[in-house]
Amino acid sequence: MSGMLAGKVALVTGAGHGIGRGHALELAKHGAKVVVNDLGGSVDGEGTGRDADVVVDLIRSRGGEAIADYGDVGSEQDTEAMVTRAVEEFGQLDIVVNNAGIVRDRVVWKMTPADFDLVMRVHVRGTWLLSHFAAIHWRERSAEVGKVPGRIINTTSGAGLQGNFGQSNYATAKAAIAGLTLTLSLELAKFGVTVNCISPAANTRISASVPEWGVQVREADDFAPDEYDPMDPSNCSPLVAWLASDEAQYINGQVLRVVRDDINLMQTWTQRSTISNGGSRWDAERLGLRVGRELYGVQARGLDL
Ligand SMILES: NC(=O)c1ccc[n+]([C@@H]2O[C@H](COP(=O)([O-])OP(=O)(O)OC[C@H]3O[C@@H](n4cnc5c(N)ncnc54)[C@H](O)[C@@H]3O)[C@@H](O)[C@H]2O)c1
Repeated sequence: MSGMLAGKVALVTGAGHGIGRGHALELAKHGAKVVVNDLGGSVDGEGTGRDADVVVDLIRSRGGEAIADYGDVGSEQDTEAMVTRAVEEFGQLDIVVNNAGIVRDRVVWKMTPADFDLVMRVHVRGTWLLSHFAAIHWRERSAEVGKVPGRIINTTSGAGLQGNFGQSNYATAKAAIAGLTLTLSLELAKFGVTVNCISPAANTRISASVPEWGVQVREADDFAPDEYDPMDPSNCSPLVAWLASDEAQYINGQVLRVVRDDINLMQTWTQRSTISNGGSRWDAERLGLRVGRELYGVQARGLDL
């Protein structure tokens, strides 16, 4: 197939539904061969299924090349096997889109340790594991041919970047993914690999899991080619396809948020202001006065400085 990603091999996790399904279809549209991974479970991470098959069939029916993978991104064995399969079936791996996700929303006093652990396992461990095995592959290729334009595109969320009520597990996981992106982007640059992160917003099974929102789930392929819906799960897929291309080599360690047709360049934690104590240890009361006055513009509580 011709196109911006012709000759490249992509692996998209959680590509059976929602946003990942949109990515897989978009990457294939631009010529990439795609490993369509999906464990096929429920929104809260129960069960397994063959949900990847429908996406593989769609890609093939449109003239593309794809294979299904039913592995669990939280499993060391399965993620290593995903990289091996890409290499055995298509010769190499160029693009990893870490997208698989689940939610188990509850306020922190009702959330169970199991809710916390499973969400961390899928999002954080899953993103790290696949990045780890892909990095090994790119390091080996780079030793033979020099720099390789490998790509990792991770998925964070507004909950991770700004917090969200009822999502202490998910928000922690998504903040960790944004942080992981920064470190991976530093470590893999020497092989030619870039690591970036998107923060999408879409109507999917995940958003429909809050019944009060009344979300109607439509998959990316349910929309007509010329139809624009602000909450179409594939609205962020063109950005993923472009980040995966050779042209985007100069973008590394970035977080880009896509809401409707807006692409927002996000900024990491930045230092806003500083107070110092003239080279000596702080006294707690004096510190409180100066923090209030100089960092927050709050009036002193009566103590004289
Ligand atoms: N929908 C939104 O508004 C939104 C906002 C911000 C971030 N996200 C993130 O986007 C990603 C995709 O979510 P979505 O909204 O499309 O939900 P979705 O439920 O439609 O898709 C998630 C897919 O991941 C798969 N999956 C779950 N656990 C897996 C595992 N262990 N291994 C492999 N596959 C697994 C599921 O089977 C499912 O097909 C997630 O990381 C989510 O956190 C979504």
